[in-house]
Amino acid sequence: MQVTLHGICKAFGPVRVLENVDFNIGAGEIHALMGENGAGKSTLMKILSGVYQADAGEIAIDGKSVQIRHTVDAERLGIAIIHQELNLIPQLTVMENLFLGREPRRFGVVDTGAMRRQARKWLDMLGAARIDPHMEAGRLSIGQQQMVEIAKALSLDAQVLVMDEPTAALTDREIETLFKIMRDLKARGVAIVYVSHRMEEIFQICDKLSVLRDGKFVGERAIADTHFEDVVRLMVGREIGERFPRRDTTPGEVRLKVSNLADDGHISGISFDVRAGEVLGVAGLMGAGRSEILKALFGASRKTAGQITLDGRALDIRDPSSAIGAGIGFVTEDRKSQGLVLGMSVRENATLVHLNRYARLGVVSDSAERAAVAGLIKQLRIRTRDAELDVKALSGGNQQKVVFAKWLAEPPKVLLLDEPTRGVDVGGKAEIYTIVNQLAALGVAIVMVSSELPEVLAMSDRILVMHQGRQNGIFAAADATQESIMTAATGGTPAQAAMAAA
Ligand SMILES: Nc1ncnc2c1ncn2[C@@H]1O[C@H](COP(=O)(O)OP(=O)(O)OP(=O)(O)O)[C@@H](O)[C@H]1O
Ligand SMILES: [Mg+2]
Repeated sequence: MQVTLHGICKAFGPVRVLENVDFNIGAGEIHALMGENGAGKSTLMKILSGVYQADAGEIAIDGKSVQIRHTVDAERLGIAIIHQELNLIPQLTVMENLFLGREPRRFGVVDTGAMRRQARKWLDMLGAARIDPHMEAGRLSIGQQQMVEIAKALSLDAQVLVMDEPTAALTDREIETLFKIMRDLKARGVAIVYVSHRMEEIFQICDKLSVLRDGKFVGERAIADTHFEDVVRLMVGREIGERFPRRDTTPGEVRLKVSNLADDGHISGISFDVRAGEVLGVAGLMGAGRSEILKALFGASRKTAGQITLDGRALDIRDPSSAIGAGIGFVTEDRKSQGLVLGMSVRENATLVHLNRYARLGVVSDSAERAAVAGLIKQLRIRTRDAELDVKALSGGNQQKVVFAKWLAEPPKVLLLDEPTRGVDVGGKAEIYTIVNQLAALGVAIVMVSSELPEVLAMSDRILVMHQGRQNGIFAAADATQESIMTAATGGTPAQAAMAAA
């Protein structure tokens, strides 16, 4: 099957998002669609999958023009999409989500037995044995939700599969499984469009790449003839500085000290300290309890044991507001449900935690707030029409930057980062790393959970590795390698990890 998009245009109100875009994909091809945050990738793929209608342009399959007015049209044509923003219905079970609108039936009645068996089959294929088809989707972790989305797309048996950042919430083990499945699908002639900001993945799995810049198509290349720098140049139209900017700060006194931390069921026995100006990375597989450490520290989950001291003083954190009051900031991984208030503007979101700062005698000073927000938008290169735009209308990566902006207006003493660069483009990542380094230079103690091993290794001073809810070693980043971290993350002993590093 050969799919051709030609001359696609799309505007949202006055904003032209896609201008005359061409995009081709053929059977048995894994085709990367690349571009900076806000370049128009998701919009183009939503047009292909019937979520949006193009204002102009044509879609053809094997040379024949087709009309795709709804997602069902796309599905009927064999086109399935895994969306960037997960959209399972939280109140429904995993299997209800998987088969929504196309439940297997017997004598006209939904056959729950068949539904469960089929759900099990697709989930097992992805190595997601721990996801129960009867579980409510809302109770799954972000990574598990992503697995269910992938299972759903696979179960549609599509000829064209669009994956809009499918690995954003997965760790290496799950990504390996996904890549194996993608190679199988490719061998069976399925065409896959692959959107990802993880450069390593593009070179590992894709055959071709197409690049969008500011809503325009800038070129197609074969991966084999393309280098990392070429991709960056095509995407941003300029060289970016170092991918991982260096940090020259020497860590100072211990700021945050955590002893024997536990919550009700996910983690226990967690002990570490973080110095002023230090970045402690937290690595581990999906479900190993990385985010749970941050949630317990922030008072977002119930702490059942453990002492936390900040600058030598014991803290009693009962809820997020006491954490914020004590000087702890948190960039959450789940921007949709925790990080942002959809329906509020970029400005309102960015200043949410610091309104007091702009208030004099209880009245919010508009000009001070506006100036601060304008500065943040510029500093983080947030691509938004203006500060008053609803964050809902921002591209995924730009939403992530707004979450970050919230904590920059007034740096906290301790900053907890959960996947801070998820979905952020290569230039934006470098900007976020620079900000992390600036915060470290100001003496902020930083704890950073990340699934991207190159990021953890390059940005951390030390790395705490989690395995099944417990910590399995803290390593100096300088001595660690991807192999040694993975060894510890899969339960290896310190000796085995050291051997893997050598
Ligand atoms: N429903 C909408 N209303 C208004 N503007 C929108 C809407 N959806 C997208 N946009 C705008 O269209 C542009 C392209 O967004 P899109 O989501 O396609 O980018 P993207 O390339 O997928 O970026 P990312 O890498 O961050 O996911 C952005 O400037 C975004 O703000
Ligand atoms: Mg997108």
